[in-house]
Amino acid sequence: MLSHQSIYSILTNGWSVSIDKNKANQVQWSKSAFTIAYARRLERTSIFCRDAISVIKSTDTPTIFHYVDPPYYNADMGHYGGYTAADFENLLIVLTQIEGKFMLSSYPSELLDKYSKQAGWHTINIEMYKSSGRGNSSTKTEVITVNYDSDNILQQARLF
Ligand SMILES: C[S@@+](CC[C@H](N)C(=O)[O-])C[C@H]1O[C@@H](n2cnc3c(N)ncnc32)[C@H](O)[C@@H]1O
Repeated sequence: MLSHQSIYSILTNGWSVSIDKNKANQVQWSKSAFTIAYARRLERTSIFCRDAISVIKSTDTPTIFHYVDPPYYNADMGHYGGYTAADFENLLIVLTQIEGKFMLSSYPSELLDKYSKQAGWHTINIEMYKSSGRGNSSTKTEVITVNYDSDNILQQARLF
């Protein structure tokens, strides 16, 4: 609710409101989207509140797929603040050791370049809109990194 209804999707920004009918509908989007589909989607889902590294290690098998979306330590992390370059490097080290497949979202960084090169990971750069799209059209490059051969990484990334 907060990510969809806060000003510019920043959780600590306060409630977004509008007297413009179209904008008000946009602000209210998440309310109408909470359908039974969410309940069904979560039926066979386990949610952990633990350090990601511990979750990755304890669930890893050769057939597992990890989608990894950490805070972007080299950007303004807002309410995700506190995640450091060292945390990101520890995550990258674990990703070099796993048996399963992973897809990682991040911004470009020397750290990522170093581990991608060493491990032979595949990367693709995607131009993303920086904000909610409400008036701000500037873009930023996001990097999708995977540890497997794929012709359609871009298509897969759009599924998340
Ligand atoms: C970029 S957001 C991921 C957003 C998510 N993919 C989504 O679509 O809602 C990064 C998330 O990682 C969480 N996080 C930060 N440090 C973490 C850690 N050490 N282990 C697990 N999660 C962590 C943050 O609280 C935040 O929810």
